[in-house]
Amino acid sequence: MAVAIRQAQPEDITELVELINGFAARNLMLPRTPEAVLKTLPDWLVAVERDTGGGETLLGCGALVALTPELAEVRSLAVHERGQGKGVGSIVVEHLVALAKAREFSQVCALTLREEFFQRLGFEIVDRWSISPKVWQECIYCPKFHRCDEVAVMKYLTVRRPEESSGGKPVAANPLLKWQAWQPLKLAYSYKPIHLDGES
Ligand SMILES: CC(C)(COP(=O)(O)OP(=O)(O)OC[C@H]1O[C@@H](n2cnc3c(N)ncnc32)[C@H](O)[C@@H]1OP(=O)(O)O)[C@@H](O)C(=O)NCCC(=O)NCCS
Repeated sequence: MAVAIRQAQPEDITELVELINGFAARNLMLPRTPEAVLKTLPDWLVAVERDTGGGETLLGCGALVALTPELAEVRSLAVHERGQGKGVGSIVVEHLVALAKAREFSQVCALTLREEFFQRLGFEIVDRWSISPKVWQECIYCPKFHRCDEVAVMKYLTVRRPEESSGGKPVAANPLLKWQAWQPLKLAYSYKPIHLDGES
């Protein structure tokens, strides 16, 4: 299966909302409206299957929401049932994490019922109350508000100093330090660019 990850386009919205709201009807995630998706479109990635004729079938989606200048949340992660269990969800999360790094966040969190899925991708379970209260802003819309069973997971984004790149320990980016303050060191870090508009 040739899967590509790209930024969501206005023409994806109808299908994307249908996918999310199908799972929302089963209480697996929160519903979204086309208007809400359109407003935040640059924050959405879609996974598509490309056929040889250049056509695309939408397989999945996910969004990155800024909660604070340091912390972003992976939200609205969904993969069509026919595409599940083949690594598509993992690729979407990896690209959202790459997007978070590109936007200079130092932490990415998620609220999930699939904590093992996120752990496999380098997230760790954290005390849900240790996360910014902004993560709970949407919870009032959740039918499970009074019996929340979601687990909070967090990934600390790291950078490597040159002397540590040969097997040294990664250094957690200091969430208190703005990236601009690191400018003199910026060139010293090694980057692995990820292209969101092509196949990874
Ligand atoms: C959660 C969800 C996004 C995962 O998407 P997915 O495409 O199935 O995810 P992946 O295929 O990358 O991983 C799923 C499992 O398949 C396994 N897997 C990954 N690639 C595989 C492959 N090539 N062959 C076989 N299994 C594979 C993974 O090990 C993973 O196992 P784990 O869940 O125990 O970690 C999807 O199940 C979904 O949309 N669920 C309904 C909506 C929902 O709950 N959204 C909220 C998520 S927080």
